[in-house]
Amino acid sequence: MKDWRMHYHLMPPDGWLNDPNGLCRYKGEYHVFFQYSPNEPGPDGRKARTWGHYAGPSLTDLAFRGVPFWPVDPADRDGCYSGSALVEDGGIRLYYTGNVKLPGDHDYTYSGREANEILVETDGEHFGAKQTVLVNADYPADCTCHVRDPKVWKQNGKYYMVLGARVAGPDHTADTDHGEVLLYSSEDGVSWKLSKTLQTEERFGYMWECPDYFSLDGENFLGICPQGVASEEYRFQNIYESGYFHVDGDLAENQCLRDFEEWDYGFDFYAPQTFEDGDGRRHLIGWVGMPDAPYRNATAACDPYWENCLTVPRVLTVRDGRICQMPAEEVAGLRGDPLAKDPEGRIVLPDGAGDMEFSFAEEEKNWKIVFGSGDAVLSFADGLLSLELSEKSGCGRTVRKCRVASVHKLRILADTSILEIYVNDGAYVMTTRFYPAYSGERPELPVRMKEGSPSVSAWAMRTMAANEVFAK
Ligand code: FRU
Repeated sequence: MKDWRMHYHLMPPDGWLNDPNGLCRYKGEYHVFFQYSPNEPGPDGRKARTWGHYAGPSLTDLAFRGVPFWPVDPADRDGCYSGSALVEDGGIRLYYTGNVKLPGDHDYTYSGREANEILVETDGEHFGAKQTVLVNADYPADCTCHVRDPKVWKQNGKYYMVLGARVAGPDHTADTDHGEVLLYSSEDGVSWKLSKTLQTEERFGYMWECPDYFSLDGENFLGICPQGVASEEYRFQNIYESGYFHVDGDLAENQCLRDFEEWDYGFDFYAPQTFEDGDGRRHLIGWVGMPDAPYRNATAACDPYWENCLTVPRVLTVRDGRICQMPAEEVAGLRGDPLAKDPEGRIVLPDGAGDMEFSFAEEEKNWKIVFGSGDAVLSFADGLLSLELSEKSGCGRTVRKCRVASVHKLRILADTSILEIYVNDGAYVMTTRFYPAYSGERPELPVRMKEGSPSVSAWAMRTMAANEVFAK
């Protein structure tokens, strides 16, 4: 198998990728930065997490532009961690967390770690000097050393920043610490003052990572990635979660956080970020991966080593008070030949890459879709959607479930070693990596209905320019 490389999902050129960072569009050009650990050490001979950079005229026409900055300074020597972009008239402001681990006998949660919020100005091509704008002493005294992931926006002429934080509980353990968001405000985007902290009435995990605050269709939302939330049968099935609160009111004034909704019910989805593209669309891109997961990626054994990818850009809309996510229309622009069923009734995806739409009649209450020879099975019965992976293709991934009253539509993006499953126009999404048993000269992924007979439209998918370089 050709290293499980994909055709239309962004991957690291080599090495490790995690969170999307600094998503923005500036002067017509899209920028997708990401957490990146290349295989080769940085300029100072050390390996530490930094940013990688894709950019181009469309979200599906991007090119890798390299590493914009390295973790080689006292304020970020152990990692240029996650952050965001703010587009201004004169350029882009990137904010990220400089991670520093101090020498000595530390646990790096309650002592020994610096989290410096750093500003870098750029025109998308040239990157200016790093400027530290917040340090540990600027955070509330009850915060642990885990404070990070600035998301910055401008509202009524003022700058705002949310940071994710772990607040120390009485006995300094994951059982009593709690997650919260710190809100800072600023007149110039450089000098910041703490406005307030935001938390749920009842403790909801010990740490909140990657906060994101945004308005959509006139409503306000606060995205977070909580760690330490107890698993339930149909919710919070992964080790760490990611979702959003509906916000009554406005963070800058008075607000109340309503119920938490998960973004995605699959195995591999974390640390998403949203951005507005200047044409009125708000996109979300997520990391297709999971920190500290009890499952693996077959790509970890590839030479050169590479791991993880990003979701396709998803456009967000609000329906019935919930956010729906659907692939941006640019993704449909990558469709190639339409695929008809073969004599055995299967849709065969060349290279395992395809875009499929299923429509179910109202009376179809039970159905099953099989990928490959049972490498993945998506089924619906009694209001329960289940995604089950085989032992071999799942690499430790087993089953994920989602309660859905009825399913009338599915859109499934398959891309060699990933499935993104959009249910009922994006009301629910399941994203997972899988490693099906491809064979033959031209690897193919057959998809067949085992139960149910929906109408199906399917297309092969072209390879994005950014991914051409990996085609062997
Ligand atoms: C989320 C995260 C962020 C952090 C980054 C480090 O996956 O842990 O909180 O900034 O990854 O790579």
